Amino acid sequence: MTGKHRDWRDRASFSLLQKFFKKRKIEGRILGMLDSGEGFQGSIWSASNQTDVWNRTVGSKDHQWFWPEKDSYDAAILRLPKSKRELEMCVHIAFSSLRAECPLWVYGSNDEGIKSSEKVLWPLAKTVTTVAYGGRCRVLQAMAPSEFSYKDELSDWKNVTRIDLPGFKRDWVSYPGVFADGKLDSGTEVLIKALPSIPEDNRVLDFACGTGLVGGVVDLQLKPGSVDFLDIDLIALVAVQQNIPGARVIPSDGFSRLEEERYDMIVSNPPYHRGKTWSEDFIMAMVAGAAAHLNQDGTLVFVAQRRLQIERLISSHFRKIKILSNQDSYRVWSATL
Ligand SMILES: C[S@@+](CC[C@H](N)C(=O)[O-])C[C@H]1O[C@@H](n2cnc3c(N)ncnc32)[C@H](O)[C@@H]1O
Repeated sequence: MTGKHRDWRDRASFSLLQKFFKKRKIEGRILGMLDSGEGFQGSIWSASNQTDVWNRTVGSKDHQWFWPEKDSYDAAILRLPKSKRELEMCVHIAFSSLRAECPLWVYGSNDEGIKSSEKVLWPLAKTVTTVAYGGRCRVLQAMAPSEFSYKDELSDWKNVTRIDLPGFKRDWVSYPGVFADGKLDSGTEVLIKALPSIPEDNRVLDFACGTGLVGGVVDLQLKPGSVDFLDIDLIALVAVQQNIPGARVIPSDGFSRLEEERYDMIVSNPPYHRGKTWSEDFIMAMVAGAAAHLNQDGTLVFVAQRRLQIERLISSHFRKIKILSNQDSYRVWSATL
């Protein structure tokens, strides 16, 4: 759907990395981390190197989820994560996976915060140096200290906070880098408060579910096992399984892995950004693609920024449209086939 698209920051920072590796040859087993995939393998290092790419988002059909082995790599290359906590987690995983005296390189653009990420790296590393810069991007090199207490399992990064919504008061699990990471997002709250009542025998899909809050609230109204949770982020889906034990999770880039599934309702608080760039592609594809996964008379309920002009698009795919809420900068749409 949209998951693999690269913006200029991906391209510019990757091109800087390529230039850097023309001068600095690397040998052995390499761990690529969080790169969006395209062009990463094979373009920097020779075929004799073995490269494993660890990415938390689901990619092609043959994507294999793995957790990097300890003490096994000769270099690690990390695409700068979006949040400080995610960067810390990735540095712990990388240092634990590297053999002694092997480098971690972190690359990203200035407006993503690559310069200030040095402040996050310093307390964790023995040394941090800028090894390449240009095109509004940088590559940093961090070396692990000889003594380090690693938090190198996902469970070490589990964050539990309290969600306090009318009729829904729960401890809620999140992990670094998942949407809202333990806080209640205002768009999520507006959507939850506007949700219609749903017949208890309905099947519902929480599309782009994050840690599963929206689907978790819907789940209370229905027979057990009636809500499926779909997201591109595999770590968010680990949180869903802890928040809603027994939940069926679907790792998927948009509708791509849903195949023949059909639902009575699809609920969604969709993403509006690709990296740092504002993008309406996901919501457009969701509105256009939902009908193929809804039963007859099925309904799509979603929250969108009020300024989005999408009524025309919705009415070209659905028969009945209602606005369930107009609050703050959000609008909750209900669209029925
Ligand atoms: C705005 S967040 C909402 C999360 C959750 N529904 C909530 O309200 O807390 C959007 C979610 O979309 C997911 N996402 C982004 N791109 C996606 C894609 N191409 N396919 C499926 N999920 C995607 C993100 O991982 C994120 O969890």
